[in-house]
Amino acid sequence: MSQQVAPVSLRDIQRPVAEELERVVAELRRIIAADFPIIAEVNEHLLRMKGKLFRPTLLLLSHQAAGGSEPRAVTLAAVVELIHLATLVHDDSVDHSALRRGMPTINALFSHQVAVIMGDYLYSRAIIELVGLGDLEPLRVFARVTNEMTIGEMRQLEAHDTLSYTEAAYDQLIRAKTASLLSGACEVGALRAPAAYREALARFGMRLGMAFQITDDLLDYTEPEAVTGKPSRLDLKEHKATLPLIAALATLPPREQRLVVRLMATPDPGEDLVAEVIRLVDAAGGLDYARRRALDLAQQAEAELDILPASLARDALRDSIAYAVERRS
Ligand code: IPE
Ligand code: IPE
Ligand code: MG
Ligand code: MG
Repeated sequence: MSQQVAPVSLRDIQRPVAEELERVVAELRRIIAADFPIIAEVNEHLLRMKGKLFRPTLLLLSHQAAGGSEPRAVTLAAVVELIHLATLVHDDSVDHSALRRGMPTINALFSHQVAVIMGDYLYSRAIIELVGLGDLEPLRVFARVTNEMTIGEMRQLEAHDTLSYTEAAYDQLIRAKTASLLSGACEVGALRAPAAYREALARFGMRLGMAFQITDDLLDYTEPEAVTGKPSRLDLKEHKATLPLIAALATLPPREQRLVVRLMATPDPGEDLVAEVIRLVDAAGGLDYARRRALDLAQQAEAELDILPASLARDALRDSIAYAVERRS
């Protein structure tokens, strides 16, 4: 990927599918509708939270870039966002997070019990919708991917409270937790395209998804909550080892490693301790290392697009790589 490109905005990459994305939001509303009061109330809250719609964007762009023009792509795009939403509701409960998309999380506003049940409610609505399509293929992909995501979230628990988490284990974790769904979105968009396109797009989504999660982990270190809409520095506060820390630990002298040990042993580390560890990680090159890895994966993702015929949608997929690694929220 060329280094001197102008920053790419979300609007830019969504332009070829802007009209479909509006319908995705309406589909989502239809699919989750409930007349049970608490569920309806949570739904309203969730629908007010505005996300980037990155996964539906990828699904629709992949569909277009692979030559498709089926109306059901909008429903499939709503389903992938719904699966994402269900995992976010559970993830925020697991991570004890109080802020998502600039608004209170379900666990914070309601309770952990409500978050657990709502995650299942949303996920099962996605399944009902897929079954209603009467085609096993998208169901097969999304069922596999959501199962991988649960394993990724379970792997995440192993990355807590530790200084010995390896980069190889981190790679496995982000592939399962995040990249699998981005890959599934791209693959489902191209289900009826030639196998070579479908497979290339699945690989594209996997590389892109890894770069996307590494960037998310960087933003957790570098950006304030006013920019990301999520609590800043939550990963370290929750004792999560992500790539900047893993990379830095390899070169940190024992005296400085002890500070990281102290953070991991402190149940609710204060801002000063967290800021000091971030400073050490940065000085040891941990942030730069993670940025380089994200760019490297981005380059690998880009190579997968070469097989597709030239189109506006393919250009937008290419731009989505730059967006994934350059975004600030
Ligand atoms: C957040 O995903 C969870 C990760 C995999 C990092 P997004 O950054 O796509 O969140 P929204 O949907 O835009 O809120
Ligand atoms: C991604 O991990 C969560 C899922 C894939 C469900 P994070 O825990 O880093 O995501 P955020 O930062 O809460 O969005
Ligand atoms: Mg989280
Ligand atoms: Mg995060």
